[in-house]
Amino acid sequence: MTATLTTRPAISAAGLRKTFGSTVVLDDVDLTVTEGTVFALLGPNGAGKTTMVRILATLLPADGGSIRVAGHDLARDPDGVRAAIGLTGQFAAVDRLLTVRENLWLMARLHRLGRAEAGRRVARLIERLDLGASARKPASLLSGGQQRRLDLAMTLVGDPRLLFLDEPTTGLDPRSRHAMWQIVRELVAEGVTVFLTTQYLDEADQLADRIAVLDHGRVVVEGTPDELKRRIPGGHLLLRFTDPAAWRAAAAALATAHRDEDALTLQVPGDGDVASLRAVLGTLDRVRAEPGSLTIHTPDLDDVFFAFTGAPAADAALEETR
Ligand SMILES: Nc1ncnc2c1ncn2[C@@H]1O[C@H](COP(=O)(O)OP(=O)(O)OP(=O)(O)O)[C@@H](O)[C@H]1O
Ligand SMILES: [Mg+2]
Repeated sequence: MTATLTTRPAISAAGLRKTFGSTVVLDDVDLTVTEGTVFALLGPNGAGKTTMVRILATLLPADGGSIRVAGHDLARDPDGVRAAIGLTGQFAAVDRLLTVRENLWLMARLHRLGRAEAGRRVARLIERLDLGASARKPASLLSGGQQRRLDLAMTLVGDPRLLFLDEPTTGLDPRSRHAMWQIVRELVAEGVTVFLTTQYLDEADQLADRIAVLDHGRVVVEGTPDELKRRIPGGHLLLRFTDPAAWRAAAAALATAHRDEDALTLQVPGDGDVASLRAVLGTLDRVRAEPGSLTIHTPDLDDVFFAFTGAPAADAALEETR
């Protein structure tokens, strides 16, 4: 609680509502993002993530709620909000005929930077986002990954204190994704607050201090990555047997195991710590039941996502944990 007294939130929203026609897209959403942290908004397609980003970034009016962004009231002072934020969305403000350097230069001049400062900032961003080799290429000739980096560079020209990234790594190869993560970490180390939407649960796990899962316009679960994983007691040891007699002996000895006789598997609930692993192996030894293989399943954000968003796999995921 003391944290909320000493640090002011970069974003606070209470009762945020948005409808398109008769469709309720955001239904009384409350959320708080602490300054200097990464907040990840997850959710299935159509959950309302982009709508939320567009509202918080002043591109779309909310229908209701009280919202403060970067210290300004969103409804009363949208210009104050705009001056403090940067947004990298799915469709960037890149002129495809201009080169990378020209695009950045134009953006710097739009931010009313003098020629010398504009030159310095453009050069620094080209270096930081590893765009040196393509600086003279028209934006239309960039690869998807280079385009994403140019999008982000364009946003960073204005030196935002609060950065919105709407699916920043969708379609990137693993190396480019890691490079993007590294840039986000560097920005956060400099004190920038990042509000991120993503389809990739590992991305949220890697970057986010807090995660909210949005489904049907509501926040269905919110917390740190570890808190969310603890909400899903899905950890178990999976033992596979090849010999039916060994399976029967093991099944008789391991009372808590979930049995599947056709597949010759046993699922023993547990979080995979060494003591419980040793106990299970000890029992198997005693009854001379040698499993063909043993795997440890620890709950991850995929489990959280499926359990809370009512996707088709949700029932199975919850079932597995019982
Ligand atoms: N301008 C608009 N007019 C009408 N409906 C809209 C508009 N923008 C979004 N919607 C609807 O609002 C819902 C939420 O859309 P939104 O783009 O916020 O979802 P999302 O969570 O970003 O999804 P995705 O993961 O696919 O990007 C969808 O049902 C969408 O069709
Ligand atoms: Mg979206």
